[in-house]
Amino acid sequence: MPLPKAELHLHVEGTLEPELAFRLAERNGVRLPYADTEELRKAYQFDDLQSFLDLYYELMAVLRTEQDFADLADAYLARAAAQGVRHAEIFFDPQAHTARGVPMGTVVEGLWRALGRSEENHGVSTRLIMCFLRDESADSALETLEAARPYLDRITGVGLDSAEVGHPPAKFREVYAAAAALGLRRVAHAGEEGPPAYITEALDVLGVERVDHGLRCMEDPALVERLVRERIPLTVCPLSNVRLRAVDVLPEHPLAAMITAGLLCTVNSDDPAYFGGYVADNYHAVRDALGLSKEQMRELARNSFLASFLEDDEERRARYLAEVDAYEFS
Ligand code: ADE
Ligand code: ZN
Repeated sequence: MPLPKAELHLHVEGTLEPELAFRLAERNGVRLPYADTEELRKAYQFDDLQSFLDLYYELMAVLRTEQDFADLADAYLARAAAQGVRHAEIFFDPQAHTARGVPMGTVVEGLWRALGRSEENHGVSTRLIMCFLRDESADSALETLEAARPYLDRITGVGLDSAEVGHPPAKFREVYAAAAALGLRRVAHAGEEGPPAYITEALDVLGVERVDHGLRCMEDPALVERLVRERIPLTVCPLSNVRLRAVDVLPEHPLAAMITAGLLCTVNSDDPAYFGGYVADNYHAVRDALGLSKEQMRELARNSFLASFLEDDEERRARYLAEVDAYEFS
């Protein structure tokens, strides 16, 4: 039985496996510029974040109908459940779909077909987090928040993703203030490829409650001290960091040092179809590469529930934490 855990950094579009991509392409009459799944998999060699994003956005062309989004999310939830996930806070990128003429309603209602039945079908509770693409304009982000208004009962929070360098958090001050006024929770990718100053800006200007990646905080001891003091959770994605070359090799991943520094770290899969592993695979990879102890693994799982947006269901959080505490490693 796998260690029970929450997944807090997962782009649903990043769970599109080559087999499903081809199935949806055929269903929707979309031509992919790859002969088959094998040729597509060969394209999964990335130099940096942008080289991944180019393929990630290209493959989204196959996602067109509510059922496509439902099938995508359902396939993820089934895999997540098998990896011990009890609770998933799932990112989606509405602008990547609305820009192709797929309405916001199709995306949210489609995802909801799977998420609304996830507890009964997979035993996984869920939340949805809508991300703004930071390489699009601030006005586009505001329009996206406006388009999401009819669906806000299904959306827990907002996030910020896509190409980081050159797109500092402060660009999105207005839309984050508007999201906060609507009662939405706030997270942002920061310090993946961008400098530590972007992490500080995400906290101070956007008011984020959790930082996605946050890796480069380790370059700024004062920032580390602040993140520890304020108990700001970081959603670390080890296999992603290696595949996108934020870190050279897994044994050099700063996660062990981050844990030692007292940071509230969680382990997540980011875009598992592209990076060679789902969330338990990430746990096992860091355990093996960094020599993490069983109690450190348990702490990572505890952190995932502590950092999750379960304030509206503390009873559930307590139940999940008790499961982690009672877990017996084989
Ligand atoms: N979108 C999907 N995965 C991402 C990542 N790792 N960083 C930024 N944007 C993303
Ligand atoms: Zn991400």
